[in-house]
Amino acid sequence: MSDPGPPARCPASSGPPTWHVTRHADVVAVAQDARSFSSAVSRHLQIPNGLDGAEHARFRPLVESFFTEDRMDALEPDLRAIAAEVVRSLPRDHPVETVADLGRPFAVRATCTWLGWPDSLETTLLDWMRDNHAATRSADHTRTSEVAARFDAIITELTRVRRDAGEAAPGDVTTELTQATVDGRPLEDAEIVSILRNWTAGDIASVALCVGVVVRYLADHPDVQEQVRRSRHDRGALERAIDEMLRIDDPFVANRRVVAEPTEIGGVALDRGDRLQLRWTAANRDPARFGDPDAYRPEENAPHNLVYGTGPHVCPGRSLATLELRVVLEEVLDATTRIDSVGQVVREDPPLGGYASAPVVLRTDASTTGAGSGISAGAPSR
Ligand code: HEM
Repeated sequence: MSDPGPPARCPASSGPPTWHVTRHADVVAVAQDARSFSSAVSRHLQIPNGLDGAEHARFRPLVESFFTEDRMDALEPDLRAIAAEVVRSLPRDHPVETVADLGRPFAVRATCTWLGWPDSLETTLLDWMRDNHAATRSADHTRTSEVAARFDAIITELTRVRRDAGEAAPGDVTTELTQATVDGRPLEDAEIVSILRNWTAGDIASVALCVGVVVRYLADHPDVQEQVRRSRHDRGALERAIDEMLRIDDPFVANRRVVAEPTEIGGVALDRGDRLQLRWTAANRDPARFGDPDAYRPEENAPHNLVYGTGPHVCPGRSLATLELRVVLEEVLDATTRIDSVGQVVREDPPLGGYASAPVVLRTDASTTGAGSGISAGAPSR
């Protein structure tokens, strides 16, 4: 990958120019200046990601209230049980797809459990994710709109059931959202759908891709794997290790902005209406900030890590994403003595990041000592 330079105009853009911002310093400057760089990039309602200023500040505390430490602590046992179950179902000594076989089923089940959605939705959501991937890759607006409408119909039905049930509605996160207020008034259906779309549509896929990056990274780097295995009971160290593997190969590629008032970034003059892409993946590998971008330095690089963004739109779901990634990794490590690389990785086609295929082989003591193959070890209890 070449070193990032000043914002570069995307030759493919029609209408107002689109600039790709790739330097760490420039990406931070744009993300932290919400006055000059608006997040209102879509004609669709996007809460809170498409809101600016006071409107954004009105919804942000409500969104944050769903990701507190207490809530995450309460959720951890359920997510751990899901992770253990998915890991237990995987074969030993045979190739396992880290995204398709591990990350995706785990992320879908974890999200359904968190939101109180029925298990029966898992297949619907997995099918939807597959179609959404294909639609995003096609860049065909009719297709993406059709897929988005299908998703909205699923969510609208879930909220309708809860509204109709009134007092008898299940005590889950989705019900809480249907009862939540902003400025003393209940949320409208379109607002609830927008919030839930943001929490599910992209983020299940992001977590699944992150699982692929992290597990394959450990397989490709036995020295780091050994170090992570040794210190895996130190929660902070494990979370910083995960963040650093994601910094090196960040599957959450970019977010958009539109210039709200004439300004300048990285020596390039920008006009009102110009479009920007904040390229997180590139900024996370900027040698001017990190030196050798591939050098694994979790402690040193943590303060500059941009995997979850920065500024007023910094990811409010970071605590949930981190919990999910930590729990699934702990379960994989506990259930194995080694994770080996196998085959070549296949990257997702742009604009998606991460892997389409990243196989590994899970080994247990019995298999690594040659005592048997195809043995399926259960995860030791924690
Ligand atoms: C590993 C997975 C994830 C990554 C890498 C990630 C990354 C990011 C980044 C970079 C942003 C900043 C966007 C911007 O500045 O325009 C963001 C925003 C956001 N993320 Fe995440 N995210 C992840 C998972 C999640 C999860 C699990 C949730 C919730 C369930 C979530 C909810 C949000 C929301 C609501 C915003 C918009 C915040 C705002 O505009 O104020 N994210 N995320």
